[in-house]
Amino acid sequence: MTRPVYVHDLDALTGHARAIRAALPRPVELLYAVKANPEPDVLRTLAPVVDGFETASRGELCRLAEVLPGRPAAGYAGPGKTDADLRAALGAGVARIHVESPAELRRLGALAVATGRTARVLLRVNLPLDVPGASLVMGGRPSPFGMDPADAVACARRPPAGVEVHGVHAHLASGLDAPLAGAVAEAVVRWSVAEVGAREVDVGGGMAVDYGDPAARFDWAGYGRALGDVLDAYPGVRLRIEPGRSVTVHCGAYLTEVIDVKRSYGEWFAVVAGGTHHLRTPAAKGHAQPFTVHRRRDGGGPRTDGGPVTVVGQLCTPKDVLSRSADAGPVGVGDVLVFAMAGAYAWNISHRDFLLHEPPEFRVGDPDRIAAEWAARPVDG
Ligand SMILES: Cc1ncc(COP(=O)(O)O)c(C=O)c1O
Repeated sequence: MTRPVYVHDLDALTGHARAIRAALPRPVELLYAVKANPEPDVLRTLAPVVDGFETASRGELCRLAEVLPGRPAAGYAGPGKTDADLRAALGAGVARIHVESPAELRRLGALAVATGRTARVLLRVNLPLDVPGASLVMGGRPSPFGMDPADAVACARRPPAGVEVHGVHAHLASGLDAPLAGAVAEAVVRWSVAEVGAREVDVGGGMAVDYGDPAARFDWAGYGRALGDVLDAYPGVRLRIEPGRSVTVHCGAYLTEVIDVKRSYGEWFAVVAGGTHHLRTPAAKGHAQPFTVHRRRDGGGPRTDGGPVTVVGQLCTPKDVLSRSADAGPVGVGDVLVFAMAGAYAWNISHRDFLLHEPPEFRVGDPDRIAAEWAARPVDG
């Protein structure tokens, strides 16, 4: 038995990130949201392509400082920043602290004054935007994220000592397709300029990816054109985006091996090494993680009849399902499964200590080549 392995295809990541950059008008600043995948290799690969990194914890600030010394975070958001977090952000030279509440702004101002620094901030605003079609709507309803518009206007008019307000940050929804993301960006910028005289606007991330179609990509060219129109309509505004998932999701795969195949009340199950404690994404999002099968040359063990198969992991919970009723053809013991689209919100959101199974390994390269080599080796039990 070989341990499950995450494979990151860094060449593919470079190509994809460059394509995103090329599709956006140059004045648009492209930040990468570290929370999507904070692996050091991923950060190093993206560093020459993106304009900066958006962070959401002191841990992410530390990760950036370790991996990319001298490249402080461009943004730092997240509810519940402690004084220690805010002090760390000031000390690390974070370019813009994204402030989530009036009380946080007051604490930040006091800390800035006490440490003799200036806090440069964007006010995170929870704007009541109508974004139909988004899988998760974050704006315009009660939420721990950001401030109500009236609070943001008040903060912008009378910032506390030690604080410079440079503009607005809004991350209102995820699962946005390009036309919707463009419409959200325009509405956020319009409000920010009109209501708080913003010179900078960060319109967040949330660009859609399609787990049902690993070959599909967000329409960066269409989004780039929409952002170009926003820049034309609001000249002089610094416009920023901070996608995460749509940048890295395609560059990571989770490879594992089938341990057991069985039929339960007429339905086929394949039990693989690892599971959702390594790859929580399908459990978190309630979807089937797409996968392909590399048949084991000398598998020899039981095999499904080719009907729909549910792929589960090693955990003692019925929620440990990676893919339900998949049409994957025959699947047998020893086969190597390549779960695609595991490059974002995957290992880093997984409940890795549940049952104390071994963690996965990590490799860099082409997932299909590594899976083919794996499947060519004898099954070693
Ligand atoms: C403030 C903020 N910015 C950016 C992102 C990245 O979103 P996504 O990975 O969907 O692009 C998130 C995700 O939750 C977020 O909360």
